[in-house]
Amino acid sequence: MNRVQVATKSKVYDVCIKAGLRHLIGDAVKKVTEPVSSVLVITDTDVAPLYLDDVVLSFKNEYPVYTEVIQSGEASKSFSVYEQVMTKALESSLDRKSLIIALGGGVVGDLAGFVAATYMRGIRFIQVPTTLLAHDSSVGGKVAINHPLGKNMVGSFHQPESVLYDTEMLYSLPVKEWRSGFAEVMKHGFIRDLSFLNWLQEIKVIEEMPIEQLNTLLEKSISIKAEIVTVDEKESGIRAHLNFGHTLGHAIESD
Ligand SMILES: NC(=O)c1ccc[n+]([C@@H]2O[C@H](COP(=O)([O-])OP(=O)(O)OC[C@H]3O[C@@H](n4cnc5c(N)ncnc54)[C@H](O)[C@@H]3O)[C@@H](O)[C@H]2O)c1
Repeated sequence: MNRVQVATKSKVYDVCIKAGLRHLIGDAVKKVTEPVSSVLVITDTDVAPLYLDDVVLSFKNEYPVYTEVIQSGEASKSFSVYEQVMTKALESSLDRKSLIIALGGGVVGDLAGFVAATYMRGIRFIQVPTTLLAHDSSVGGKVAINHPLGKNMVGSFHQPESVLYDTEMLYSLPVKEWRSGFAEVMKHGFIRDLSFLNWLQEIKVIEEMPIEQLNTLLEKSISIKAEIVTVDEKESGIRAHLNFGHTLGHAIESD
């Protein structure tokens, strides 16, 4: 298991990176947080058919496990989908001891994290990232939905109890998602570590990378993010470096 500690002022937690971890989420939950009363797993329509059953089965019927599947894609970071998930949480009678699991990429992580930050004024959640990009979005506690007038404009800082990263799941990603995520890995090299950046430039086909190498890459890239959010959790200074390239990127995407 590769492991990175994230030590923010509000919470200290681990990012655990391991092939096959999705089958062990139920056991891992017991190790990383206080006992829970029930669980709501939030995922999307692309991820659900691939991995939702594995995660639900990992809880071995020890407590009620509810699921909510949102439409995949950025459009789901919206007020209407936020309301849909909140309704599911209320109908499932989640209480202050309930736990939300965000099983998916950055869209699911940001939305589910914001639901966790605001349901009953804040309950615990665990990030289970399934994209390469989500090695960035699942760490550091920024959670948000979009407003028609701006991306990520409605959100909060709410740290997860843990990030449980099963790298096996990345191998079902479309090539374009590997590339999108790799850009965030390169970003960490650019802003912090030239030797890491040089090592990355030697990788020929990212989506064919052996899993051991992928685990090492993620550990290194997440360590860089962890170092930054440890000293500046709420982006009052150096955390802004993590936005490297984003202003221009968002402008190109919205064109
Ligand atoms: N909170 C933060 O700090 C932070 C940082 C960076 C980005 N973000 C946010 O992250 C979001 C983008 O995240 P993303 O790139 O992961 O997009 P995404 O969550 O939309 O995932 C991309 C696509 O891949 C599919 N998918 C996910 N996992 C899969 C798997 N294992 N196999 C097959 N298909 C899979 C998804 O269903 C989706 O269609 C944006 O909304 C962005 O604002 C947040």
